[in-house]
Amino acid sequence: MNIDFTGRAAIVTGGAKGIGEATARKLAALGAAVAIFDVDRSAGEKTAASIAKSGATCDFFPCNVSISAEVSQAVDAAAKKYGGIDVLVSNAGIQLYGDAQTTTEEEWDRLMGINLKGCFLASKFAVAHMLGRGGGAIVIVGSVQSMTAISNSIAYVASKHGLLGLTRAMSLDYAQKGIRVNCVCPGAIDTPMLRWAASLADDPEKVMETCNRMHPLGRVGKSEEVADAIVYLASPMASFITGAALIVDGGMLVPAGGMGFQEGGTGAATRK
Ligand SMILES: NC(=O)c1ccc[n+]([C@@H]2O[C@H](COP(=O)([O-])OP(=O)(O)OC[C@H]3O[C@@H](n4cnc5c(N)ncnc54)[C@H](O)[C@@H]3O)[C@@H](O)[C@H]2O)c1
Repeated sequence: MNIDFTGRAAIVTGGAKGIGEATARKLAALGAAVAIFDVDRSAGEKTAASIAKSGATCDFFPCNVSISAEVSQAVDAAAKKYGGIDVLVSNAGIQLYGDAQTTTEEEWDRLMGINLKGCFLASKFAVAHMLGRGGGAIVIVGSVQSMTAISNSIAYVASKHGLLGLTRAMSLDYAQKGIRVNCVCPGAIDTPMLRWAASLADDPEKVMETCNRMHPLGRVGKSEEVADAIVYLASPMASFITGAALIVDGGMLVPAGGMGFQEGGTGAATRK
């Protein structure tokens, strides 16, 4: 079956850069009209214009996903422009580091507002339009940290666990109404977010090398590889999949004890 989104309208939050941008490009290339929601106006306008240049329909809607009025307004504007909404890719997210003592209340609220509440708000307003079309698909961008944790990252880990819960809960609420809700859980992906995180260290290249080695496939992922999984879940090819978490991590979550144990643990010690 070929994936064809002709006549369909999609919203991609955080679609100006990284995984969201790659997803917007793929959906548009497959025929969807794509609304990019982002806080970064200049990057959003640039990405939308570059997609539209290829003949596809793509528009930028300035929107901070953590602000209800902005999300409601942007969703309605996109639905009006395209005649409805069929797909929501809830991707906008930020990363902050800290433990329970060093994370400020303000940081916690900001991150939760974008990563978790932002997904709730986008879903809340998009669902109304999907129901008007007899159904749709929501794909939420979680993380391997939706099911595991790293240290010094409490707000991010909690928000990503929350997104998997939100996926499962909404999948039940809308299963009988034709809306499927799924979650994509990426490993480390080479985006501006990952480069920013690496830049916080004294030796960013060493962090990138470590990130490569964390994945059995030997490298970090590309935004396009996550976008492929998102597009699949949003498409009719995934018509019997809802409430699922699709791990896109180059095998990162497979090795017990992590790649260090693969290299120096008991199995490795007995390898000839
Ligand atoms: N890069 C990774 O290694 C990785 C791994 C797992 C999960 N993820 C998740 O994938 C998603 C995309 O990450 P990315 O790496 O592409 O990030 P990125 O920082 O490269 O891009 C994120 C986009 O979201 C936008 N954004 C940020 N705050 C926003 C807000 N309040 N409202 C609207 N837009 C906002 C940014 O302007 C940017 O365009 C995030 O949810 C992230 O947590 C990323």
